[in-house]
Amino acid sequence: MTSVHHNTVSSSATSPLRLGIAGLGTVGTGVIRLIRQHDGLLRNRTGRQIEVVAVSARNRTRDRGIDLSGLRWHDDPTALANDPDVDVVVELMGGAEGAARTLVTEALKAGKAVVTANKALVARHAQELAHLSHEHKAPLLFEAAVAGGIPAIKMVREGVAADALTRLGGILNGTSNFILTEMAETGRAFEDVLKEAQDKGYAEADPSADIDGWDAAHKLSILTAIAFRPIVFDSLAVSGMRRITTDDIHQARKLGYAIKMLGVARRLPEDRVEAWVQPCLIPARSGLAQVNGVYNALTTEGPFSGPITISGQGAGEGPTADAVMADVIDLARGHGLPLWGRVDEQAPIPCEPVGNLASRFYLRITLTNNVNAETTLGELRTILGNEDIAVEQGHHHTSQGGATQIILLTKPVTLNDIDRILPILEEMPIVQGTPLALKVEDLP
Ligand code: HSE
Repeated sequence: MTSVHHNTVSSSATSPLRLGIAGLGTVGTGVIRLIRQHDGLLRNRTGRQIEVVAVSARNRTRDRGIDLSGLRWHDDPTALANDPDVDVVVELMGGAEGAARTLVTEALKAGKAVVTANKALVARHAQELAHLSHEHKAPLLFEAAVAGGIPAIKMVREGVAADALTRLGGILNGTSNFILTEMAETGRAFEDVLKEAQDKGYAEADPSADIDGWDAAHKLSILTAIAFRPIVFDSLAVSGMRRITTDDIHQARKLGYAIKMLGVARRLPEDRVEAWVQPCLIPARSGLAQVNGVYNALTTEGPFSGPITISGQGAGEGPTADAVMADVIDLARGHGLPLWGRVDEQAPIPCEPVGNLASRFYLRITLTNNVNAETTLGELRTILGNEDIAVEQGHHHTSQGGATQIILLTKPVTLNDIDRILPILEEMPIVQGTPLALKVEDLP
């Protein structure tokens, strides 16, 4: 374990703080707009001028709706790491590898402070970046990487720093929440809503990161590292929302639940950690069920701090630019924090396997034509019962496509139990397609 102290960038408390921004997409242009619009406010809050001196982006000529004249332009973003006029490198290109990784690595090696919105980079290269940041005494801040405009990092790293949290989690991806909300409220098709999320700048360059849970997983991994300890990213259990239909949303509602993409981590005994991202049924009256559209929410629970929930826009130009600037303000004020808010370097550990975790499950089983639904419902209860899966509630309905579907809510069973029964159900001649199983997460 190494004890570290961080340099700050307050070489002179009144000298301007000079930023070099890599990436001029939605967030990059938002940051420049915010700095220009809130020039006086930023000076007031920090006692210093905050100015952008250099930028780097792929396309020099694209009209971004902002004046870039007077700024030094680097075609190679890595040049920002070695630009003597740049105090802070602001990395807004995205991507866990390639140019973003090289720039952040080189900037830290050069002893420069780095602010990034790049959750994939921070989550996947946590150990290496933490080490570089410690070794070169260069702060690496990433408030904008988690839940857009919500001060999620600050809440966990600073707000409840004195508590030993037991659980954290919530809705950590705006695009998937926007899609689920629109599907629930308007019945619009998945692709149609996804297109709107892309147009609004919520979705990742490759929206499968949003839909398949990886974006939320990156954020959860970062929060888990701060709250509990670093985890091996690839050991996180992640499943996406592609198979959820408006029928599922309506059937869940009938049972008293909403469907949300959740990322949850729990502290387990002996320094173990449970962490997963998946679509879940949550009680319709719970606080998180009211978090809709592009909004994200993070809940923490600790023995001293109790339950805390914060909510706000998890994506988009304004909220994300504001989160980037919260880190820049910290640097301008001379605050430098170790990467995970602790001075010792901890090696990542694998997450607890999820197969043994018990919960109730929602099962949707589509039947082939001309099968008696009522009789089948009884038969399915027996088949599941024989596998030690007790059914709490069950009903059938006709889907929007005209198929008969059986909807079951099980009593608590393990994911291993569910994984064992799904192929058995799928092989039954009266069952059409692959049954869907969703975890029920009982939240207050
Ligand atoms: N694509 C992300 C989301 C952007 O939808 O939440 C913010 O990380």
